[in-house]
Amino acid sequence: MDESSVTLREVMLRDGLQNIPEFISTDVKIELFRLIAASGIRNMEITSFVNPKAVPQFQDAARMAQAVLQMKPEGVEVSALVPNLKGAQNALESGMRNLGFVMSVSESHNINNVRRTTAESIDELKKILDLKENYPDLNIRVGMATVFGCPFEGKIKPRVTLNFIRRFYDLGLRDISLADTVGFGNPKEVKETCALCLTEFPDVTFSIHLHNTRGLGLANSLAAYETGIRLHDGAIGGLGGCPFAPGAKGNTSTEDLIFMFEEMDVKTGVNLEELMETSRYFKMVKNNVCYSSSILEVGVPVPQGAITKDGSEQKWSI
Ligand code: COA
Ligand code: ZN
Repeated sequence: MDESSVTLREVMLRDGLQNIPEFISTDVKIELFRLIAASGIRNMEITSFVNPKAVPQFQDAARMAQAVLQMKPEGVEVSALVPNLKGAQNALESGMRNLGFVMSVSESHNINNVRRTTAESIDELKKILDLKENYPDLNIRVGMATVFGCPFEGKIKPRVTLNFIRRFYDLGLRDISLADTVGFGNPKEVKETCALCLTEFPDVTFSIHLHNTRGLGLANSLAAYETGIRLHDGAIGGLGGCPFAPGAKGNTSTEDLIFMFEEMDVKTGVNLEELMETSRYFKMVKNNVCYSSSILEVGVPVPQGAITKDGSEQKWSI
């Protein structure tokens, strides 16, 4: 991969499914994983180790993790979301080693989402880090929710985010995802915040997780790309949304991200047509699923052929 290429992390199996109230069977989830990996996606969040009473969709988190790990998906990095110590312990017991610890930079959203103050979440994170003693290959990514705005508190100042990152950094963490949980951000803010993060923490790997609530998902992704962020989350069909953030809508569609980047000669390594087949497969399984992806809806542009005035020399080209 060259410096300009991007890695897309597919979060449909976690963010995409958490907003679907009906349980999707583990077999379907495994088939989705297989198809998504076959399309060339090399990074996937596959489930969420949360209280099944809070999100029944992930009652099969352990089974899903074990099944995916058994498939030994070569070259695919798999991770799972954890909101607390218990989730981390369950994930580790299921064989997972890449965990995405979620906490919000907004006090109100953190309380609503994981029933903890941010200080309590950081304490929880420290306890998870202590598990490294028994699991030295444990990797933690911090998923920072509501960086660009909170449904309760509104805009969040970049300095608040940077202060949290400093604390994570001091705990030895170097993998951080900046999330626009409810789609409050705009390209200017995304650029400013990402640039500050990259300048102040040049040895941290930052990724971006955007929701397309108000149609700015792609523009925000591009803004993050232009500042140097090379790991972007997306969900097939534009599925997704946090059930504990009022007004949250889907992630930026992975299909649309691939189209945008590839059209700009930025390599993603993903076969768009194959990924679209995966979205169609899921639509077949669950026909009331509501997609929001322009490429899925209208396809890639296919010119119909030049038109001459007398109509005699129509050339068909693709
Ligand atoms: N996985 C499974 N069960 C869990 C759990 C986890 N990660 N964390 C707590 N539990 C269980 C406890 O065992 C306990 O079970 P019991 O009622 O059978 O005794 C119950 O949940 C309450 O435990 P408690 O420690 O009080 O947890 P909590 O009520 O503070 O729950 C969360 C906190 C975060 C685990 C819970 O609110 C949750 O899972 N929320 C979902 C958040 C989410 O998915 N957000 C969207 C993604 S950003
Ligand atoms: Zn999300």
